[in-house]
Amino acid sequence: MATNPIPQFPAGFLWGVSTSSHQIEGAAEQREPSVWDDFSAGAGHIKDGSTAAVACDHVHRYPEDVALLRDLGVGAYRFSISWPRVNSPGGLDFYDRLVDELAGAGVQPVPTLFHWDLPSSLEEAGGWLNRDTAERFAEYVAVVAARLGDRVTKWITINEPAEHTLLGHALGTHAPGKQLMFDALPAAHHQLLGHGLAVRALRAAGVTDIGIANSHGPTWAASEEQADVEAAGFYDLLLNRLFAEPVLLGEYPEGIGELMPGTDIGSDLKIISEPLDWYGINYYAPTRVGAPEGADIEFGGVTIPAELPFTVKQIEGVPTTDFGWPVVPEGLTELLTGFHERYGDRLPPVVITENGCSYDDIDDQRRIAYLDGHIRALHRATEAGVDVRGYFVWSLLDNFEWAQGYARRFGLVHVNFEDSAALERTPKASYRWFQEVLRAQR
Ligand code: BGC
Repeated sequence: MATNPIPQFPAGFLWGVSTSSHQIEGAAEQREPSVWDDFSAGAGHIKDGSTAAVACDHVHRYPEDVALLRDLGVGAYRFSISWPRVNSPGGLDFYDRLVDELAGAGVQPVPTLFHWDLPSSLEEAGGWLNRDTAERFAEYVAVVAARLGDRVTKWITINEPAEHTLLGHALGTHAPGKQLMFDALPAAHHQLLGHGLAVRALRAAGVTDIGIANSHGPTWAASEEQADVEAAGFYDLLLNRLFAEPVLLGEYPEGIGELMPGTDIGSDLKIISEPLDWYGINYYAPTRVGAPEGADIEFGGVTIPAELPFTVKQIEGVPTTDFGWPVVPEGLTELLTGFHERYGDRLPPVVITENGCSYDDIDDQRRIAYLDGHIRALHRATEAGVDVRGYFVWSLLDNFEWAQGYARRFGLVHVNFEDSAALERTPKASYRWFQEVLRAQR
């Protein structure tokens, strides 16, 4: 463990931790079903055969979890609001109580309005492939903002439309389990449109502090061969540019707009690029990409099918997490300085809305090393001139890690899922370490 103190970030820098509704809440019987309930019921979809019906039971145990946040000393807590819960009687009351509890603990609430748990009823009507879902999303956002807007000032519209498109709609390894390959692109466009309409709904409710949480990472070509460089450029387009450019520049990368649905892409892009107060980035690792090799490959829990025009390769010579993801802190500096160069003053201040790693141990020295390295890498980006305003660790608690079930542990706090009656929370070594980092930053 590094003993060298982490450099000081500017006053007002927002330190936090993140979670999402489906991954921690439980109390599934108190809400409508979502696409993740339906998907989890399918044989073989979730690695350990589990569901999130109980998860961390956060709906009942939130006072204990808020106490963990208070003791940790974070300034902010990023959680997500479950659309299916809001649709259900008394659903918004839960978020009311949570927000009040956070206020009592002196922790700023930062809700995300969509983190992949679409109501099943909307999926039946076509889900994100149906343009109407974007309109329904904005209506739901208006309802939530009207209820919580007196106490919540900082909002995130949607989480990682890239993963939700790629894993949920193109490859089918996440809910809703569609395997549409490139025909999944309309799901990206409609999520982005939903984002823009949500920004408008929030503005109409008087909100002045709005961001998105997009996942990004540097893309490294496997070699200097032209075929590898082209494949890496294509991957960069899919993961980074396809989701950043409509939001930041009001345009799709060349050739992509023509593939999107709708009759007036220009007016959609105007909505999608409604100005943001800050831009949220979830960063985990860079990706090394090469030309396709004509065979399916397994990577980080996902099968990359042979027919895609790229393949993903191991990054040699770096440690990996228990999930098999490479640990490359300098990738965060590279990503941020790269975005700063690419988008200049079109890039608003940045907040790292997720960063973290999966390790099994409670004495999680490797998580400490990961976080320590990434926070230093973030600081180097600020020294290089990138305006970064906050950093959120994924995640507060071990939780339902989507298709991996409970087999992957991203929490600063261990949850004992073996004992489903107690679901005991145990702060890990990384929780104590982060507590000290936060103390030293105050
Ligand atoms: C998601 C989280 C997820 C984490 C680790 C992000 O893609 O927003 O919900 O648990 O990464 O896989």
